[in-house]
Amino acid sequence: MTDLHCKYFSDLGEPSLKVITYRNYGPPEVLKLEEWEIPIPKSIQIRIRIVKTAVNSGDWRVRKPDPQIARLYFGLFKPKNPILGLSYSGVVDAIGEGVTSFQVGDKVLGSKGIKMGAYAEYTIVEENSLIIKLPDKMSFAEGAGISFGGLTALDFINRCQIQNNQKVVIYGASSSVGSSAIQLAKHLGAHVTAVCSKANFELVKSLGANETFDYETFFADSNQNLYDVFYECVGKTEIKSNLKYLKKNGNLVLVGATFRQMFQALFLKLIKRLNVHFGPIEETLENLKFLVSLVNLGKYKVNIDRNYPLERMVDAHRYVEAGHKKGNVVIDVTSER
Ligand SMILES: NC(=O)c1ccc[n+]([C@@H]2O[C@H](COP(=O)([O-])OP(=O)(O)OC[C@H]3O[C@@H](n4cnc5c(N)ncnc54)[C@H](OP(=O)(O)O)[C@@H]3O)[C@@H](O)[C@H]2O)c1
Repeated sequence: MTDLHCKYFSDLGEPSLKVITYRNYGPPEVLKLEEWEIPIPKSIQIRIRIVKTAVNSGDWRVRKPDPQIARLYFGLFKPKNPILGLSYSGVVDAIGEGVTSFQVGDKVLGSKGIKMGAYAEYTIVEENSLIIKLPDKMSFAEGAGISFGGLTALDFINRCQIQNNQKVVIYGASSSVGSSAIQLAKHLGAHVTAVCSKANFELVKSLGANETFDYETFFADSNQNLYDVFYECVGKTEIKSNLKYLKKNGNLVLVGATFRQMFQALFLKLIKRLNVHFGPIEETLENLKFLVSLVNLGKYKVNIDRNYPLERMVDAHRYVEAGHKKGNVVIDVTSER
């Protein structure tokens, strides 16, 4: 459950915060602006004034929900926690008496993970959660955009142990996960082929892709290339098509695998002994620190497609759910002061 409490305190002259809720599952229009009580941090809790959050594919999937089985975790008939939003950047605004590594005024970034709750002007997190200081080199927008695609891409990159000069194809390269995966694979010395629409060729090249393919024609018979890693980011292809392009003992990554594909992948892994990687990722502090260290070294860029104000969350969800964002969509929550 959320750490925030809905009390509509503004009517009573008490301090309040703006929050976007979804009281029922459904289309973007279920998202509503409410005013809630500002929470007080206890013990090792930190209160953050959120400056930016992001709308990720995970948010709209939970909102619908898609797949419906997600109700088992998020609430059978209606959402248990009515606030979406995984990633955030902001300023530490108050701390519990046991907090030692953060101070009021620190600029931070982090992820609330599957517990969510970042679509709010203030949030409470634990000191030992996925939170780190925002480096001077990073903007608040980059801080909010880095964790969803970045942590997902890195978790799967680590699973396939990419070696120098290996040939890696990133399918769905303009997505949040794909735009991160290109850069991480390049960092490991891979030769990266990015598959995306023609409109995004320049973007993926700017992130380091060695060559580009249009996703409309990649699977044409004329394409005879074989790859060490087939990294499918968007769940838009058939596994049997991907396997045709994989070298013997290569790694197949299925970031956005559907349930049907997960069963297929399990069969390939257990019975055919293929290197297939799928399923939920683990968000770790170590991985978040690694991504931020790459930003500091100038070796990783968080691609921001657009910003929306908090009040236009419905429009932001419509845009992200349409499935054509380039990298990340950021929400302006409070001022950067
Ligand atoms: N396993 C896990 O734990 C985990 C974690 C996070 C996310 N995911 C899943 O990973 C997937 C990607 O998430 P995301 O947030 O990175 O997605 P996203 O940013 O919302 O993806 C949008 C991008 O996909 C591209 N795209 C759409 N149709 C395509 C196609 N047929 N071929 C190639 N590219 C296409 C779009 O390019 P155009 O505009 O050019 O069409 C657009 O740039 C989602 O399915 C998500 O649920 C899984």
